[in-house]
Amino acid sequence: MLQKKKRDSSLRTVDLTTLADASLENTGNLLEVRGLRTSFFTDEGVVKAVDGMDFDVPTGKTLGIVGESGSGKSIGARSLMQLVDKPGRIVDGQILLNNGDGRAVDIASLDPRGDAIRRIRGKEIAMIFQEPMSSLSPVHTIGRQIGEMIELHMGYDKEQTRERVLELLKKVEMPKASTAIDSYTFELSGGMRQRAMIAMGLACDPRLLIADEPTTALDVTTQAVILDLIKDLQASTGMSVMFITHDLGVIAEVADEVAVMYLGTVVERGSVHEIFNDPKHPYTRALLRSIPRLGLEKQRRLAAISGMVPHPFNRPGGCPFHNRCPEVIPGVCDRIVPPREALGPGKDVRCLLHSDVDHLKAEAEEASHE
Ligand SMILES: Nc1ncnc2c1ncn2[C@@H]1O[C@H](COP(=O)(O)OP(=O)(O)O)[C@@H](O)[C@H]1O
Ligand SMILES: [Mg+2]
Repeated sequence: MLQKKKRDSSLRTVDLTTLADASLENTGNLLEVRGLRTSFFTDEGVVKAVDGMDFDVPTGKTLGIVGESGSGKSIGARSLMQLVDKPGRIVDGQILLNNGDGRAVDIASLDPRGDAIRRIRGKEIAMIFQEPMSSLSPVHTIGRQIGEMIELHMGYDKEQTRERVLELLKKVEMPKASTAIDSYTFELSGGMRQRAMIAMGLACDPRLLIADEPTTALDVTTQAVILDLIKDLQASTGMSVMFITHDLGVIAEVADEVAVMYLGTVVERGSVHEIFNDPKHPYTRALLRSIPRLGLEKQRRLAAISGMVPHPFNRPGGCPFHNRCPEVIPGVCDRIVPPREALGPGKDVRCLLHSDVDHLKAEAEEASHE
């Protein structure tokens, strides 16, 4: 267990040698996120976009994050780079990034505009998105844009930079790389743009690549090609990948470990094998049932999860999934917030079916008398 640390901007690094059992080197994790909460303070009220995210990204492996639209996947990912736009901000939690020397930096405590996070963004952690056009500029060649990242972080001169860009474009198997380097985004196909963005992500050899629905906008064939590319790149570079998608079918393709999100919370975590073969949370089971299968009509598939994801202003009390859950325990699931129950290493669930409810009730009773 990682020791809870007070938020303190002067305490930028955590010396893991002083924390019992807390060395990220021993856990084999590049990143450990604990109790992350990110909210938007809007005029209409507070949107708790991320409300208790706990997960690990193992070194050199892929963590898949899956959940319906609006479950906080993107805001959670942006939080890891302190890239949450106003009026949003991280309100609680730890984001421990292994420095590789037995120490970890807590990204959650860094100033979003400070030098420390600038050294991490793009260099240690890079991110690619669903829509390349939103992060690629239409008025500069892709060679120039990828080159900028390299000049910023690696201190290369013009010639070295161009060489490196070309090397990257070949690495992402960009067709006709030596011509593509001087192309503008509008001259490229969707798959080629996505390759350009991946090349930009890889520019500084990041230790973690966050891919936020990178194949959702692509046709099925290109999607498969890009997934293979990301897998091959990971195998050759040894980087960790955090792969975000609403599609469990994609998770089965790419992930080693899986975190299932619902309304800003990780409700279940486990290996890809455990999640698919022995899901513990009713929400995970519902998601699994909703995977399109040959022979099933569309209507039946869509009926798999009843009800709608509640609006974040109307977050239900107790378990956030209770009003859609086929296994709800009345009087319990609508009252008690399920704690994170450890089921094994890297495996946990937030569901009262797996908690000692009597004990939790007694605890709540006690707290109300204090
Ligand atoms: N700028 C913003 N202001 C207010 N709420 C926001 C903002 N950005 C995202 N949200 C809310 O945060 C929640 C999580 O969003 P997001 O992380 O984008 O979900 P996902 O990526 O899982 O589809 C949603 O309810 C969304 O409406
Ligand atoms: Mg998203």
